[in-house]
Amino acid sequence: MSRAKIILIVIVGLFIILQLIPLNQTNPPVIQDASAPSDIKLILKTSCYDCHSNETEWPWYSRIAPGSFLITRDVVEGRKHLNFSEFSDMDTFDSTDIADEILEVLEEGKMPIIPYLLLHPGASLSDSQTKALMGWANTLYSE
Ligand code: HEC
Repeated sequence: MSRAKIILIVIVGLFIILQLIPLNQTNPPVIQDASAPSDIKLILKTSCYDCHSNETEWPWYSRIAPGSFLITRDVVEGRKHLNFSEFSDMDTFDSTDIADEILEVLEEGKMPIIPYLLLHPGASLSDSQTKALMGWANTLYSE
């Protein structure tokens, strides 16, 4: 067998083995969905819910390693920081914290993260959407 063939077989074999590594791509139950006016909810669902809720849409390419590892990590980390599906038992301290963090990422234009925007150009926030989300985040202080 030629060297090129052996290399190819090894690469294909590794690719197949990578596909067998189990991933935690689950959507746990929604405990309490964040309440927001419908226009705000639409923005959150379009731009944030894939990583910050239990209603993640897992597209076909999210199942294919090694990209699947990166996508799964973003969702697991994203939910850890902020989960709009588990918005129920926030006391005032928590909601102040969350409002602060949301305002901060919006001011800095940090979310959604760039790799996600490359695959979901429609999720990028316009200036008016950013403003609307900031207005909503400010209402969380009084909750
Ligand atoms: C592709 C996944 C993804 C999307 C979509 C996404 N985020 Fe995130 N988000 C993350 C990850 C990963 C982290 C944690 C690591 C970090 O801070 O970069 C995070 C962190 C955060 C944090 C916490 C920041 C901190 O300093 O702890 C806030 C607030 C946040 N995101 C808000 C949003 C909002 C609002 C949207 C929608 C406009 C959004 N995110 C969209 C992945 C995402």
